[in-house]
Amino acid sequence: MAVRVGVLGATGAVGQRLIQLLDPHPEFEIAALTASESSAGKTYRQAAKWRVDSPIPEAVADTTVTATEPGEVPNDVDLLFSSLPSSVGAAVEAPFCEEGYIVSSNSSNGRMDDDVPLVIPEVNADHLDLLEVQRDERGWDGAMVKNPNCSTITFVPTLAALAEFGLEKVHVATLQAVSGAGYDGVSSMEIIDNAIPYIGSEEDKLETESRKLLGEFDGAELSHNEMDVAASCNRIPTIDGHLENVWVETEDDLTAADAAEAMESYPSLDLRSSPDPLIHVFEEPDRPQPRMDRTLGDGMAIAAGGLRESAFGLQYNCLAHNTIRGAAGASVLNGELLLENGYL
Ligand SMILES: NC(=O)c1ccc[n+]([C@@H]2O[C@H](COP(=O)([O-])OP(=O)(O)OC[C@H]3O[C@@H](n4cnc5c(N)ncnc54)[C@H](OP(=O)(O)O)[C@@H]3O)[C@@H](O)[C@H]2O)c1
Repeated sequence: MAVRVGVLGATGAVGQRLIQLLDPHPEFEIAALTASESSAGKTYRQAAKWRVDSPIPEAVADTTVTATEPGEVPNDVDLLFSSLPSSVGAAVEAPFCEEGYIVSSNSSNGRMDDDVPLVIPEVNADHLDLLEVQRDERGWDGAMVKNPNCSTITFVPTLAALAEFGLEKVHVATLQAVSGAGYDGVSSMEIIDNAIPYIGSEEDKLETESRKLLGEFDGAELSHNEMDVAASCNRIPTIDGHLENVWVETEDDLTAADAAEAMESYPSLDLRSSPDPLIHVFEEPDRPQPRMDRTLGDGMAIAAGGLRESAFGLQYNCLAHNTIRGAAGASVLNGELLLENGYL
């Protein structure tokens, strides 16, 4: 029987992607949709300005959207996918967990808390057991798991593939799509014919979340990876797909051929939304490109290319679909991991 799930922030850019992915999902059944007070009481069709590249699913179109409060979500809903602004997530996610709901969240609030697992299943599925520590410390019947920021998800799987060479220093420069800022995020007058070399708090997220994701969990505590990470984030006028330029210095010698082999052979998981291969390595020097490569693996694959040895270690480019692998698909994959591990 499918697990009954809800979507918090169902009308937004990520919320719509969540609905697109969950509607056909055999393990999950959408049973609750929430948004702000201004959407509450409307049907989903009225409340959401649907902009995803497939028709609005009939199964949810006439569902009534509720306010985002535990009392508004039926008790038989077990799992909530959260795509709320982080200020809202900070206020409402914990009360849902206290009421016994399991929350798989995109929002940045709480991602770096010591007892909150920040998970990319193919990279650090074992960190999910941090939920036992979380429940002990917080006394929750529910639980909270987070997926990382969309630009962190793009480069961390490639680093995980290179970890055996000893990661020492990582430099990453991003070229991020406008959908990463949400529908009301960047005005067209700001971004057309332009590039903006600043995205508030983004660089810090890449630098800290990557070290948490590649850290070690000993069953009680999580230690963060000690590699140095420096990030520079840029907004560019693409719609979807974050492209990143990466330089990695390793303890052991690392050739471009070794790196390509390590990335191509890095394992995916036997979960419905985990693509195989996880990392697609291009030989063409001008790939990956956002418009051509963001839908690889139904938007869940990481694309890499341009691998070469440089004065600053291995250099390459990588790309992922920011609202699928970087957000909605990441939360759904964490939901599948929760199910496989008996949390649902
Ligand atoms: N876009 C990406 O690529 C991406 C990637 C990774 C993570 N994220 C994170 O995911 C979250 C959602 O991003 P988004 O791009 O989907 O944002 P968005 O398009 O602005 O959508 C925000 C959603 O939250 C709801 N909401 C706003 N204020 C609320 C309130 N006070 N109470 C309850 N619900 C409220 C909105 O409902 P109404 O329609 O009723 O206003 C809407 O459903 C953010 O934390 C973002 O940082 C986004």
